[in-house]
Amino acid sequence: MARVTIDDITIEVPDGTTILNAARMIGGDVVPPAMCYYSSLKTSGGYCRTCIVKVEQGSEKDPRPMPKPVASCRTTVMDGMVVRNITSPEVLEARAGVVEFLLANHPLDCPVCDQAGECHLQDLGYQHGKAETRYEFPRREFEKIDIGDKIQLHMTRCILCYRCVKVADQLTPSRVHGVLNRGDVGEISTYIQHAIDNEMSGNIIDVCPVGALTDKTFRFKSRVWFTKPVDAHRDCPTCSGKVRLWYKGDEVLRVTGRKDEFGEVIKNEDGSTAWVCNSCRFDHKKTSDWVIEGPSKVQRDSVIGANHYLHEVKFETQLAQKFLEAGQRAELGEGFLNPNNV
Ligand code: SF4
Ligand code: FES
Repeated sequence: MARVTIDDITIEVPDGTTILNAARMIGGDVVPPAMCYYSSLKTSGGYCRTCIVKVEQGSEKDPRPMPKPVASCRTTVMDGMVVRNITSPEVLEARAGVVEFLLANHPLDCPVCDQAGECHLQDLGYQHGKAETRYEFPRREFEKIDIGDKIQLHMTRCILCYRCVKVADQLTPSRVHGVLNRGDVGEISTYIQHAIDNEMSGNIIDVCPVGALTDKTFRFKSRVWFTKPVDAHRDCPTCSGKVRLWYKGDEVLRVTGRKDEFGEVIKNEDGSTAWVCNSCRFDHKKTSDWVIEGPSKVQRDSVIGANHYLHEVKFETQLAQKFLEAGQRAELGEGFLNPNNV
């Protein structure tokens, strides 16, 4: 075990834990933002630099500070390490610079982007970015590409986090897309215009932190804050069958994985990730396909919780009954909306 102190809070964690995961164990404001790291995807992290922190003391044995900010998702803790995140003005300044670089080529098209309201870059911009821009050059632009009949790639919005590439590598039998070229000409592309179509390909939509990969069956159907998320499951032969249904009225507009407070798809009891297969995601959009568990917990600061959460939902009687039961049973986690607001 190693003792590490992050923003003056000390915690003991297993050897080999990264600073980011140690901060996640503490939770709250000390957790650095992460745009490319994804706990269920091996070798993710180290691309975006949003998770940088200052290591004030390397370890008990060697107390020298690290000479420059380090990526917390790729740096493991040492016994006696002292780390600063939000208590370091230098880290906040450096992170604002990273956000500025990420936004250098990202369009400011939140008003027309399907990901608005659940976009990690939008949140990052608000929390760590600057109000003004210094960038005067034309942003790079790409045509939108359909990769298969269910997913659209809008490369203009991609921040090259590699998460979708790792999903394709680790979840699907053969990867047909990747990052081509380097630097400011880097882009996500399929090899020779292959379609990405295998049973688990829809998960690239869930891991994309921005609006670069979107669900074509949901595009422009509704702003996300006008929809009502509900947790549901079904007995699926391919995946865990644990999903989130996004209702507008009594219509299921889309099906996604359930995300945790770090924006990642949740884990099953056995520690595996509750990835969602394409059949659950695209072919089961009727309430009768699912066993409804109850309203999803939404973080208090999310715009999804705005607009009178679950206030005006009109469901069939049976579904409404399940909501009420779930609302009565639900335990209120700190920082979450009250699911009793049915
Ligand atoms: S398309 Fe999305 S998930 Fe893939 S690299 Fe770009 S930002 Fe990341
Ligand atoms: S989350 Fe650590 S570098 Fe991207």
